Amino acid sequence: MRAASLTTLELVNKGIGVVGGFVVAGLMPVMASLKSLYLSDNALCGATKFGEGTYDATGIKAIADALRDSASTLTSLNLADNYLADEGAKALAPAIAASTSLTTLVIHSNQIGDEGAKALAPAIAASASLTAANLLRNDFDVDAASMLLKAKQEHPTLTTLCGFKGDETRLNFSRQSLRPADAMLIAPEISVMASLTAANLLCNNLDKESATMLATVAKEKKISLCGIGLEQTSADFRGQGLEPNDSILIASDLGVRASLTKLNVRYNYNLGEEGKAAIKEADEAAIKGVRGGLTPKEAGETTTRAMRVPGVLGTRE
Ligand SMILES: *[C@@H]1O[C@H](CO)[C@@H](O)[C@H](O)[C@H]1NC(C)=O
Ligand SMILES: *[C@@H]1O[C@H](CO)[C@@H](O)[C@H](O)[C@H]1NC(C)=O
Repeated sequence: MRAASLTTLELVNKGIGVVGGFVVAGLMPVMASLKSLYLSDNALCGATKFGEGTYDATGIKAIADALRDSASTLTSLNLADNYLADEGAKALAPAIAASTSLTTLVIHSNQIGDEGAKALAPAIAASASLTAANLLRNDFDVDAASMLLKAKQEHPTLTTLCGFKGDETRLNFSRQSLRPADAMLIAPEISVMASLTAANLLCNNLDKESATMLATVAKEKKISLCGIGLEQTSADFRGQGLEPNDSILIASDLGVRASLTKLNVRYNYNLGEEGKAAIKEADEAAIKGVRGGLTPKEAGETTTRAMRVPGVLGTRE
């Protein structure tokens, strides 16, 4: 096969490194038909995705320059898991702004901090072609996330900053080290996903504020935040290493899943007394809401549904 006719170059986890990055940058103008370039997990800046090795952004700068070239026909670029950090993001920004072909950009899990995100925001807003990006699992704060959201608003054809297709029915983000900034990017998107019924966001690094924001969206759309399906009547979260702020997500689910009759959250030693109390309170409030002010008997309940969380309450099995 001739390089000029290749449309896809898939080089995932090939140890490309900085020098290999220069090679790829040199190939890009030669490959006249190249549309999709997958370069995830290649230590393109010298450092592995875990940050081991000497950081050097010259290779990613060369790739950015090739992307910026007006002759580039690249539509999809995946640079996930490359420890691009701020300098790498800043190198990419002008190329993202200038490219008229790039529609999909995947740069999740790259330790991009506030400075990098703030360079990317105006570039994303300026892009004529971008329709989807994935910026999750980086290192920027909620202010930088706000700037990115604003850039998205200014760019109506850009549908996602989280790599969503939009037609997902379920999402699994449990144990993905998501931070408050990730929740900020995710919340407005799940609020407009027509088919989404359940997302699992448990066991991340969310704070109270971001978990509460997600719960607000979930309530509106009746989305589970703990991965509980519409049809589910019981959920078992025993020994999952739930964190105190997960109680906010669980409490939210007790509100949007009236069908749930049993929830077991035993052996989650970090949940804390406050977390347990919040769950109990949410359960009571939700059940009251379901009965519409009636007593269990008046509401026609044969067995009382008031205590769906026996493990926490320690009262019923
Ligand atoms: C969700 O993701 C977690 C972490 O990657 C995994 O352990 C779990 O099995 C997944 N759950 C489902 C239902 O796919
Ligand atoms: C829960 O949120 C608070 C701030 O709202 C934060 O200080 C704390 O670290 C969070 N807990 C976990 C386990 O992430």
